[in-house]
Amino acid sequence: MNQKQRVGIGYDVHKLEKNADLIIGGVKIKSTYGSVSHSDGDALTHAIIDALLGASNKRDIGYYFPPSDLKYKNINSLKLLENTLKITKDFRTINLDCIVVLQSPKLSGYREKIQENLANICKISQEQINIKFKTEEFLGFTGNMQGIKAIAMCLLEKIT
Ligand code: C5P
Ligand code: MG
Repeated sequence: MNQKQRVGIGYDVHKLEKNADLIIGGVKIKSTYGSVSHSDGDALTHAIIDALLGASNKRDIGYYFPPSDLKYKNINSLKLLENTLKITKDFRTINLDCIVVLQSPKLSGYREKIQENLANICKISQEQINIKFKTEEFLGFTGNMQGIKAIAMCLLEKIT
């Protein structure tokens, strides 16, 4: 791989149900709906993992952490992110930009805590991570609270 800098993109969706926890970037959100998944259902962290793997040409999240493997059941996704950084250790993160699509609740009050969590795990400063929150205007599966969606993009630089 000759290029020093490489971009990556990641995307994830989880189904929402009542009486489940909603975890975003390792933060438990006060919400009547939570995400159901084999892991803790942290769509943002999963999208970031795929962006990092993508930029470093290392396949995808399911390759390393298959949902069929019982050791990942209900696992804290920050732990998966921590493991991902070992896989992508030849690269340093220049920046991460992300979108979480959720109809409700409002997430802006959680932004700093989410950024702090992710910056700590990625060993970067909070200014290197930007998180955006969007609704899809009551349209589609996010609009009717059937699901949460997250998109992440990163720029990595090869450590020489
Ligand atoms: O989706 P919409 O354009 O209406 O979002 C407007 C703003 O509301 C966003 O820029 C974001 O700051 C905030 N927002 C939020 N939590 C959400 C969705 C949107 O804080 N779940
Ligand atoms: Mg996921």
